[in-house]
Amino acid sequence: MIRVESLVKTYPSRKGKPPIKAVDDISFSVAAGELLGLLGPNGAGKTTTVKMLCGLIRPNSGQIVIDGKDLTQRRIAALSKVSAVLEGNRNIYWRLTARENLEFFAALKGLNPAHVRGDIDHYLELFNLTEKANVEARKLSRGMQQKLAIAVALISQSRVVLLDEPTLGLDVQASYEIRQLLKEIVHDQGRTVILTTHDMNVVQDTCQRVIIVNEGRIVADDSVHDLLDLFRVRVYKITIQGVLTPCQRASLLDMEQVIIKEESPERTSISVRLEESQVLYGVIGILGSNNSLIESIDQEQNNFERVFLEIVEGGTQGA
Ligand SMILES: Nc1ncnc2c1ncn2[C@@H]1O[C@H](COP(=O)(O)OP(=O)(O)OP(=O)(O)O)[C@@H](O)[C@H]1O
Ligand SMILES: [Mg+2]
Repeated sequence: MIRVESLVKTYPSRKGKPPIKAVDDISFSVAAGELLGLLGPNGAGKTTTVKMLCGLIRPNSGQIVIDGKDLTQRRIAALSKVSAVLEGNRNIYWRLTARENLEFFAALKGLNPAHVRGDIDHYLELFNLTEKANVEARKLSRGMQQKLAIAVALISQSRVVLLDEPTLGLDVQASYEIRQLLKEIVHDQGRTVILTTHDMNVVQDTCQRVIIVNEGRIVADDSVHDLLDLFRVRVYKITIQGVLTPCQRASLLDMEQVIIKEESPERTSISVRLEESQVLYGVIGILGSNNSLIESIDQEQNNFERVFLEIVEGGTQGA
């Protein structure tokens, strides 16, 4: 559905500063019905990539093809498939109510108002906006406006949906609603979605595949499942009663697999990353040297946040 080939975007220099290569030779494809997560640290080039995909800014070089149509050569045809919600840019009208916004944008896409009424009710319901349906958008909370902006992007029934940070600044409930919605539009409606996010819950919960970008380049492109497997290191959290002796402390800090997580007069927790069992014996030996009383040993869950940090920071993050 989407094909991106050798995309480059350099922002020109300003006030004597050097130009910024925000996107540096990125290529990827997204199949119809796929939900792709685009992740990366601040400034990695995610928003820039999304802006090029929805035709807001032009790449310096490279090619974008949407549903077989080249974005440069057949711009209108290519973009007719796409709707997008960009970070901080709410594609809604302040003076219209929530319902009117949905009706207006559906009409703009040429949809028959009678046919979309059910969809509008559905989105309002799903986002807990039914009670606010007749309130002007400007009087909604920030989170409600964001949910409405996403509903507006979806009401058009476009096959490709681009969402830049859809859950940024939303509360737990709203973030959950958006995740449910994402699953629905991909699984039930077969739409193609690219979303950027820093929210690893969203990634683990909804994305089948992720692309991780860093400094404008792709550093990983794989399924969430495979990436979790690839970085499946075992991490144990060991809690002892009381404090460590200075000697124990120094010996533990000497081991690169060990991090001291909490220290209080009552208890101390350390985290041990286990590539081989020998490491754990070493740690137990150090703790045993002062007969420290072990309260608990728990295995920590591997999660996508750890995987992300490992990839972006080249494995220096530790446990
Ligand atoms: N309009 C612009 N003019 C000049 N430089 C820009 C512009 N927009 C972005 N940049 C620069 O391009 C780089 C990539 O920015 P971009 O907004 O694409 O990153 P991002 O991955 O979306 O980051 P974040 O996670 O913070 O949203 C950054 O160095 C940024 O400062
Ligand atoms: Mg961004």
